[in-house]
This record gives sequence, C-alpha cells and structure tokens, in this order.
Amino acid sequence: MTQQSRLMAQAHLHMPQGVAENYRYWGDDRTVFIESAKGCVLTDCDGKTFVDFRLGYGPIILGYRDERVDAAVIEQITRHGTLSGFSTALDTEVVQQIKALCPNIDKLRFANSGTEAVMGALRTARGFTGRDRVAIVEGSFHGLYDEMMWKSDIEHWDPHGTQAPQVIPFGAGIPASTRGLLDIIELNSFESLDRLFAAHAKTLACVMLEPIIGNAGSISATPDWLQRLRDLCDQHGTLLLIDEVKTGFRVAKGGAQQLYGIHADLTTYAKAMGNGYPVAAFGGRAEVMDVVGSHKGGVVHGGTYTANLVAISAAHATLKILAETDAFATIDRVGTQIQEVLGRVFTAAGIAHAFAGPPAMFGIHFTPDVPSNYRDWRKTDSALYQKFAWHLIDAGVMLEPDSREPWFICEAHQSVDLAWLEDVATTAMHKAMQD
Ligand SMILES: Cc1ncc(COP(=O)(O)O)c(C=O)c1O
Repeated sequence: MTQQSRLMAQAHLHMPQGVAENYRYWGDDRTVFIESAKGCVLTDCDGKTFVDFRLGYGPIILGYRDERVDAAVIEQITRHGTLSGFSTALDTEVVQQIKALCPNIDKLRFANSGTEAVMGALRTARGFTGRDRVAIVEGSFHGLYDEMMWKSDIEHWDPHGTQAPQVIPFGAGIPASTRGLLDIIELNSFESLDRLFAAHAKTLACVMLEPIIGNAGSISATPDWLQRLRDLCDQHGTLLLIDEVKTGFRVAKGGAQQLYGIHADLTTYAKAMGNGYPVAAFGGRAEVMDVVGSHKGGVVHGGTYTANLVAISAAHATLKILAETDAFATIDRVGTQIQEVLGRVFTAAGIAHAFAGPPAMFGIHFTPDVPSNYRDWRKTDSALYQKFAWHLIDAGVMLEPDSREPWFICEAHQSVDLAWLEDVATTAMHKAMQD
C-alpha cells in the first residue's frame, strides 16, 4: 500500500472528497499529496519527484521556498508579529513598489485572495459609477464569488451548430438571482462588444477581463479588440477592470497592461505578488479608488487579515526581487526554450499545435492556429492533450491535465534539463498517440 492511498483513505473520513478544496481532487488514485517543494521541484508523499509547471495555479514566480522571500517573512514576523489590526509602514511601502511597476495604479487596497480582490474591485466600480451591471468574457475565471460563478457550458456545446453555449452555474448553491446583472461576451468578437454596449451602456459599471485568459489556455485578446473595448468604456462611462490575478507580476513587470499598453481603471492582483504567500490587492485611478472609505456614500472594504505581516512582507520581498533583478528575463528565456523543446516534440510526432500567451504562462493547443476565443478552444484536440499530460505526470513532469490551464514558468526553471524534458515529452506523446 502506498502512502498516497493511506493518506487518501484517511482524508476521506474528514473532508468532502478527501481534499481541502475541490480542484485538488484528481480521483482516489491520482490525488497528489505533497511532502515538500523546492525551486521548481515537488516531492510527493511517496518520494516521487516532479518538475512542476503547475506552480500551485501560478503564484510561484521565483521558485518554491525562495530563501530571499522566506528570510524576509521570518525576520518580519519574529520581530513585529503577524497582525495587529492596525496600519504599518510596510503597507505604504508595498503600494509604492507596485506603483513603480504598474503605472496605472494611483491608489490601492489589500486583500487576501484573488476572489476577495475581485469582490473589492467590482464593488468599487459599482460604487464609483452608481451602476450595477458587470460584463465578463467567456472562458475566464474571476474567483469563487457567487456572481462570478457562472460560465458558458462549452463541454455540452455544439461547435458546428448555430446556438451560443448555455450559461450555467459552476455548481450547486449559486443563487439564480446572482446571474441577473452579469453579461458574458466573447473574446475578440467586435460584434459581441457592440451588442453589449448597445443593450446595456447606461447600466454597465464595468467590463472585467483577463487579456490573457488564465483558465482558457492563455488565449489572448488582440490589441485592436482591447482598444475598441477601451474606447467604448470611455465613450459610455463604463470602467475597464483588468483582472491581473494570474498575469500580474508574471507576464511582465507591469503585467498584461504593460505587454498591451492598455490602461485599466481598476486592476486586481494576487498570486505572483507574494511568490506563494497569500496576498492580493486591487487598485486603480485615484478618482475611482477614492470612493472606497468610511465616509458617507463610501464603498466598504475591510477584513481581519488584510495586509497582515506575513502577506505584506512576502509581497515586499518578492516585488523587490522582481524590480531589481533580471528574473523576468530569465523566465522569458526559459519559457521560450521550453516551448521550443515541446514544439520539436509535437512536430516530430506530426501534431498540429499552437502556443498561446507569453513565455511565463503559455497554453498548448493541438490545432493548426492559435485559438482566438473560448469557443475555438473547443475545436482543439484537448483529449490528446489530456492523455499527453497524464503520461508526462507519470514521467515526473507536473502539470494540470487540462489544456485550459497554462504552463507556468518560474525563475527556478532555469535548472531544468531540457534534453531530459525533450526525452520524456517524446515518450509521453508517443504513448498518448497509442492510447
Ligand atoms: C484571473 C483570476 N481571478 C481571480 C482568481 C481567484 O483567485 P483566488 O483563487 O486567489 O481566490 C483566479 C484564480 O485562479 C484567477 O485566475
């Protein structure tokens, strides 16, 4: 009996599905129990090691157990404590660090998770505009907040038919009433944008989007479409809210907004800003953010754990490293090399393939052309990808066995043996094609 099966059996007695949160359940035989993580390597409870391209859904940007970040956190909490429910000098310092990297931020507030940052940003958009509707993009993910828990049912959609996919809740417990103010548009469809503003311009508080969709294989907005969206928002007094929970401090120092040269009114951050420590934030234009506060008519924002010293010292150390070192150049170089390796493997196997998104978080799609939106993703050979991914996992390469999750690269991936990766990927693809 393996340690994994022992731990799984025990966990089933104490947690629904035997896991701490839904997305960790990969089946009784496949659910992974981690013993330790260092650099880009995970070691599971049975001593098997994996080079990890999943990186806990993206927060690890430097590497697991980065000594520079860990030392700063330990120093801070042993000298000053973890939280007091009062302000610290470090709060402002971290905001200044973020502002130096992200020119679209004038003012900012902290949160503990991406979900919480989205909730704060959306409430701020509504408070500022006095409007209630919000539009999001098909295939994107904005956290566990009820109103964001609606999606296009792409799995049961007929890509050859004329109907749009049905919009369904992510699961039980999502009140139907939370759907009422939500619109879902298609990425890169000018028609879908025009339709949205024609129907709801006067009541639309904001359009929220990930320009590089982190839960749809890094399928990305085109600059023209983003500009049209920006123009329509300006024309109608609607705010542009860019969710950089995955892309922030990952795809470039200034996130997706730097890559695209686009200006958001409000932005959310989480994941990479703390290299795995739980810290998040939302911020934007001063005029918009100043609606947040306890003054009459102000937007409520708060939380016991907000800007606790574990979170804030991790952000301080991580952002300092990202600002002052060539970590991003390393990540881009290594991500590009890994794409080249995988590209050679797919070409040798005769598989039509396309990479989407930047080297720091790229999607792999088995299709001749890069998909331009979520409906295109449905036309890719995601079943082959899934088989390929499982064989990679068996061979010691950890990734999400779903082509909607990108490959995440961190600085520590510079130690990956590319010849080894090419070898295991070649074998995994060979097996996948025979399954
Ligand atoms: C773009 C985006 N927004 C929000 C969230 C929610 O973040 P969290 O899981 O920290 O609540 C996620 C999580 O993956 C995300 O990818």
